[in-house]
This record gives sequence, C-alpha cells and structure tokens, in this order.
Amino acid sequence: MKAKQSSLAGCRILITAGPTREAIDPVRFISNRSSGKMGYAVARAAMEAKAQVCLVSGPVALESPDGVDRVNVESAKEMLQVVLDRVEDADVFIAAAAVADYVPKEVATHKIKKNDREMTLELTRAPDILATVGSLEGRPFCVGFAAETHELERFAVSKLERKNANMIAANKVGDGRAFDSDTNTLTVYWRGGSVKIMKDDKVIVAKKLIDLIADRYASYKKEYL
Ligand code: PMT
Repeated sequence: MKAKQSSLAGCRILITAGPTREAIDPVRFISNRSSGKMGYAVARAAMEAKAQVCLVSGPVALESPDGVDRVNVESAKEMLQVVLDRVEDADVFIAAAAVADYVPKEVATHKIKKNDREMTLELTRAPDILATVGSLEGRPFCVGFAAETHELERFAVSKLERKNANMIAANKVGDGRAFDSDTNTLTVYWRGGSVKIMKDDKVIVAKKLIDLIADRYASYKKEYL
C-alpha cells in the first residue's frame, strides 16, 4: 500500500532556530541556553516530509540537515531581516529560535574597561520576529513556540493570540528541561484544540510536531487558501 503523502510535501517552510547573540561590546554579548537542537530536529522532520526548508540559524554547533538552505545570523535584528527577506516565499513559518527580548541600547565600539564601580547595562526591546510575521498581510501559516517556567497554558494561549500565530508549541523550561537537552515535551495549542506530545528525543518530538502541523495546515488550506 502506498504511504499517505504529507500535506507539507513541496511546501516551502521557513524555520528559525538557536539563540541570538546581542553585542555589548566587541567581545561580550547577551544570549541564552538554546542549542538549536529542537529547531534543527524540526527542520530535519520537515525535510523528511518532503518540504523545501530554509533554516535561519543563530550561532549553534550543529550540522545542517541534508538539503536544507541554511542562513546563519547572530542578532535578533539580523534574524528579522533574513526572515523578512524570505517570508514572501514561505507557505509555513516555524519560530523555534530563542530570540532575545531585550538587547543593549548601545553597543560600545571599544572593549568596555572595568573599574571599581558597579555597572548598569541599559536594555531596549528587540524586534519580535513571530509577531512581525504574524502581522503581515498574506502571511504564511505561523507556528510559534512558547518557553515557560510556569503557567504554560495561560502564557502559551496568550502568545498564540498576541502574535497572531496559527499554532503554539509550548515547552516547560528550567531545571534542565527543553533548553540544551536532547529530549523535550510539548503541548501544542491552536484555536479550538490542543495536543500533548509526550517526553521523547527531540528527533521524535519534532516528527510528531511536523505531522500535527501537516494536519492543521491541510485544514487551514481548505478553509482559507
Ligand atoms: O534550542 P534548544 O536547546 O533545542 O531548545 C529548544 C527551545 C527551548 C529554545 C525551543 O523549544 C523553544 O521553546 N523556542 C522558543 C524560545 C522562546 O524564545 O520562547 P518565547 O516564549 O520567549 O517566545 C515565543 C515565540 O516568539 C517563539 O516562537 C519565539 O521564537 C518568538 N520570538 C520571541 C522573541 C522575539 N524577540 N522574537 C520572536 O520571534
């Protein structure tokens, strides 16, 4: 019997993965614990579903999945620019990157010298890439992530609405969970439903997430496209 083809076959998927680095001076930056493993596993699973994948990646120590078009970036601003350059050609956008929420207001041109006094770093809001894509006219089908230490459902559902996403994959973080781990557990929310993907290797979790996105995207296409 012939295997059922995924609704993502031939579909153009734009994925962000990994952390961003926000420069303080030429040698220092603010970043986070994202390893990129989750986003890269999603890219691999999307390739296996026969999609065309563009992966916009923050600095990570991972090999690109075969056949993926990878663009390396450092900061949230650079990631936004690459996403905006590519989003018109995307049918689905998956935001798995841990993008900075705040960035240094000014970047020192020379290495900041230490002295005996305390130092205060002034931060300003980073661009919100998922919310920006979610607000575009003719936007792709948007899947965000939500990384929460508590009140997973409440915050994830609020991000689904606020960022105008079609789906949000929520993971509990802290105490070694999700960030830089080989395993993950997701609860995926959309308007009118949710599904839990039980703890497993990120490769398996990503496959299940891609299958779910394929189902939801097929219903979306029937209704809106
Ligand atoms: O990389 P790993 O080590 O494998 O870890 C995986 C992960 C924990 C990073 C991943 O599963 C995950 O949760 N990614 C999203 C992390 C995050 O930034 O979550 P958030 O709740 O702060 O953001 C919500 C959504 O908005 C996310 O889709 C995020 O990509 C997006 N966002 C956030 C801030 C920002 N400035 N721009 C964004 O686009």
